[in-house]
Amino acid sequence: MKILGVVGSRRKKGNTSILVQEALKPLARPGIEIKIIFLGDYNINGCNGCEGCKDTYKCVINDDMQEIYPMILESDAVILGSPAYFYNVSSDMKAFIDRCYCFEAFTEDDRSVWMGVNEALGGKYAAVVAVCEQQKEEDMGYTAELMEKPLEALGYRVVSTVKVLNLFAAGEAVKCDKGMKDAKQAGEKLLKILQLRDKLKKQLSQNLFK
Ligand SMILES: Cc1cc2nc3c(=O)[nH]c(=O)nc-3n(C[C@H](O)[C@H](O)[C@H](O)COP(=O)(O)O)c2cc1C
Repeated sequence: MKILGVVGSRRKKGNTSILVQEALKPLARPGIEIKIIFLGDYNINGCNGCEGCKDTYKCVINDDMQEIYPMILESDAVILGSPAYFYNVSSDMKAFIDRCYCFEAFTEDDRSVWMGVNEALGGKYAAVVAVCEQQKEEDMGYTAELMEKPLEALGYRVVSTVKVLNLFAAGEAVKCDKGMKDAKQAGEKLLKILQLRDKLKKQLSQNLFK
């Protein structure tokens, strides 16, 4: 099993990074391969909207996203984390999400019918972590939803959304007991759903239609 953590803040020791790592902790088990990437380490251009991916489900832009695509396809679950930047996800996270458009498939005659290639591959799971400085949830804006909705459109079931408010300085998250607990619980939930999937798969392969 493979899990991919994606950090949308360039502060490697920042709050998003800490909380995504906390969410990954419960998944650190034998048989589970965990990878965490910091989007700031990669050169990810915005989507051209060229539709060059239409029939191939491969993006034509030759940049570091080509290195990330196999990680996405191979993972059973992803944890996306972003700080709130003006009520939104960071520009790194937005570029990353937009560039996943190549994994979206539409029917030829009706663009209101679509699915993510991940759905065809059997469905995937996700958790989302959103961090902001202000104390009111409205000041986080749409940060969490802007990760949740695209993930759902791409065929992920988002099992947990963690919103941690009132964090400003890099690293403050470690002192936020509730935020750390919520992040850990998100990871635990992801682990449970993956274990349930594997149990069901095994049961179904043995019993169904017999
Ligand atoms: C460009 C920029 C925009 C920001 N916009 C918001 C915002 O809209 N609402 C908010 O509460 N905090 C905002 N913040 C604060 C960050 O979300 C906060 O400091 C967060 O803890 C940073 O996470 P990090 O440590 O993972 O980088 C902004 C920070 C920056 C640098």
